[in-house]
Amino acid sequence: MHVFGLIGNPVGHSLSPPMHEAAYRELDMDAKYVTFEPDPDAVEAAIEGAAALGIDGLNVTIPFKQDALGVVEPDELAARIGAVNTIDFSTSPPRGYNTDAAGVSRAFAHHDVSLSGTDAVVVGAGGAARAVAVTLADACNRVHVANRTVEKAESLAADVRADAPATVTAGGLDSLDGCVSTADVLVNATSVGMEEDVTPVPADLLHGDLAVLDAVYTPVETRLLRDAAAAGATTVDGAWMLLFQGVVAFERWTGRDAPVEAMNAALRAQL
Ligand code: ATR
Repeated sequence: MHVFGLIGNPVGHSLSPPMHEAAYRELDMDAKYVTFEPDPDAVEAAIEGAAALGIDGLNVTIPFKQDALGVVEPDELAARIGAVNTIDFSTSPPRGYNTDAAGVSRAFAHHDVSLSGTDAVVVGAGGAARAVAVTLADACNRVHVANRTVEKAESLAADVRADAPATVTAGGLDSLDGCVSTADVLVNATSVGMEEDVTPVPADLLHGDLAVLDAVYTPVETRLLRDAAAAGATTVDGAWMLLFQGVVAFERWTGRDAPVEAMNAALRAQL
């Protein structure tokens, strides 16, 4: 029996177990996906214990993604993002990856949106925005980071710029006025739209040549995505990003193509 799982705190409402277990069923694998909620000061012991127990792979979520970076051997992308969300215990020391990044590019690719050579805007400068900005800066021509707290946008842009070929700029939310109208791609990586039916991007800035990904997936249809659809934009909801980070983790752990449709159906059944 293979054992995979998730460590975070809290993990009670995680959608990863049904999504991964749907894949095991679809491929007739003898495997389980278990959630663990270690004490915040026991993360290192938990990861080392998982390795000792022969657990095959762990996803890592809030608030442990940064802690995990120091416990495993991160690949270059995870090190650049500064966060590990997937650990592969098949090697010693275990390797750490960040599949949130691939989740972004696979979610766009699934909607036939090519990032290559595009102008992109990221709204937000927290942990989620960091994975998004690094991904976009590797593929796009230009990336603008807009955040409520300008200093955080500037700091993120400086980090991303150091390792990527794209032109990376930063500003406050008011800088959206000047850049969304000419952008090809826009990603909301803030939590705005989760609690209330509000959007971080004024609707009149959206247009039909834009592809919009909202990392928020509760609700699946956010105000931003409704406004984007009304403007004729291509919309990609946050469940696609969640799905593909799981798909890429599954593929890393098993070396097999993930049954994307089965995982997607299981995920959407929960939302
Ligand atoms: P995560 O790890 O999920 O990205 P985070 O690191 O706390 O979470 O980041 C949350 C992001 O949402 C930040 O960019 C935050 O903006 P600030 O850096 O100014 O705090 C943004 N955010 C949260 N609430 C917001 C609001 N009401 N309006 C605009 N931005 C908001």
